[in-house]
Amino acid sequence: NCIGIDVGTSGTKALVINPQGKILGEASSAYPCHHPRPLWSEQDPEDWWQATIKVVREVIKKAKLKPADVKSIGLSGQMHGSVFLDRADKVIRPAILWNDQRTAAECAEIEKRAGGRKQLIKLVANPALTGFTAPKILWLRNHEPKNFARLAKVLLPKDEIRRRLTGEYATEVSDASGMLLLDVVKRKWSKPLLSKLELDEGLLGTCYESEEITGKLTADTAKLLGLTTDCVVVGGAGDCAAGAVGNGIVKSGLLNTSLGTSGVVFVHSDQPQFDPEGRLHTFCHAVRGKWHLMGVTLCAAGSLQWFHDNVCAVGSKGKPSYDQLTKEAAALPAGADGLQFLPYLAGERTPHLDPNARGAFVGLTQSHTRGHLTRAIMEGVTYSLRDSYAIMRDLGVPVKQIRASGGGAKNPIWRQLQADVLGKPVTAMVADEGAAYGVALLAAVGAGHYKDITEACAATIKTADEAKPSAKSRKVYDQAFPVYQGLYRALQGEFK
Ligand code: XUL
Repeated sequence: NCIGIDVGTSGTKALVINPQGKILGEASSAYPCHHPRPLWSEQDPEDWWQATIKVVREVIKKAKLKPADVKSIGLSGQMHGSVFLDRADKVIRPAILWNDQRTAAECAEIEKRAGGRKQLIKLVANPALTGFTAPKILWLRNHEPKNFARLAKVLLPKDEIRRRLTGEYATEVSDASGMLLLDVVKRKWSKPLLSKLELDEGLLGTCYESEEITGKLTADTAKLLGLTTDCVVVGGAGDCAAGAVGNGIVKSGLLNTSLGTSGVVFVHSDQPQFDPEGRLHTFCHAVRGKWHLMGVTLCAAGSLQWFHDNVCAVGSKGKPSYDQLTKEAAALPAGADGLQFLPYLAGERTPHLDPNARGAFVGLTQSHTRGHLTRAIMEGVTYSLRDSYAIMRDLGVPVKQIRASGGGAKNPIWRQLQADVLGKPVTAMVADEGAAYGVALLAAVGAGHYKDITEACAATIKTADEAKPSAKSRKVYDQAFPVYQGLYRALQGEFK
């Protein structure tokens, strides 16, 4: 049996599968995300570790496994976050996360040191974006020099969990791509960029392919978790690539949309492909020798969560459930009676690459209800996915099938909305288990149950029903989408 662990932004999830890919148990545990200043976003790595211990013990218990029954573990997690460790492996300060926007000046510094944006893209396939890891390291050097002086290692969130499991400093190509320090084409750390940034390669872990074994559980951790020191930990993948693997996106022509805290449009690519404007990320896939392109909107289901937590009133029956909110939205016409929402509550990556972008409702009238606000949020987030999808289509990327995952896909209303807004059928998965399932499959490959991840996906992943676009709604969205796009352009100057 194999365990998949996903160290997410809202919580950590674990599941255990048998060699045939059947889920024997799953568990999750939540923790907070801190915003000490507007657009800053931090977490305590200790919270991830405590949650990991809890969920792993829980799945072992649920699946009634003996210690020697678990042969391997796969790790997935929120990408880009920086865990800063000193020489004694002590965490120096809270981890700075993927949706933190404090590093605009450091992004400019990186592009300058690299000899311009084009040159940077040649070295690491991507422009400098505030969420990526390298700008966070420079921020530490520029703003907290005392902390920087203590810095011995920088690990990604799931790789900090790997260190605690195995004692190894290691990562793998898909997550390492998002550090902005990997030569994505060669799948190796970029020595030229590290030297231009005056960063020591010794700060980084060893970089593996996703299904490779990176270590074994230490005696202490094995005891703590109720496992054995024969249990191996494979590379795993960043949550976007892991989620794509969990949906079988391991062949050309397959595209994944995911609506979690962030929204992701992810397409498999046999070769590294580039958006010349840098709006899409070009990263290594968790499939050996393959890549992917992806667009990321920073506040997707996160926008609905913000609305639910901060705007919806507590009535006599408590706060409305998400189901209730989306049902109210579904009862209203496409286009939310002219109400538009820009989902840029955390700044925006694709397509604007603008840390200063802000959210907005535009077009409110007295006759708009809570259902309209919910509907406008769901439509605005889906337009943002369409922005990424449109760039991919313009680049000529082949798309034969769209598969949906994440909370937004579990909700049939939001899945239909995706089909209507993207103008293409959107397929659901039989088991939408996301990133934890994807890395459990990589662990199964590492344990020798499958030849490679493509074979593992073919044996285990099944598609369910398909939402087909409605001609009537599509027409409304085709008219509303350019209005949505125009609103950012109109408001851009006000966001500074
Ligand atoms: C991807 C990204 C987010 C996080 C969320 O580039 O920043 O999707 O991985 O967990």
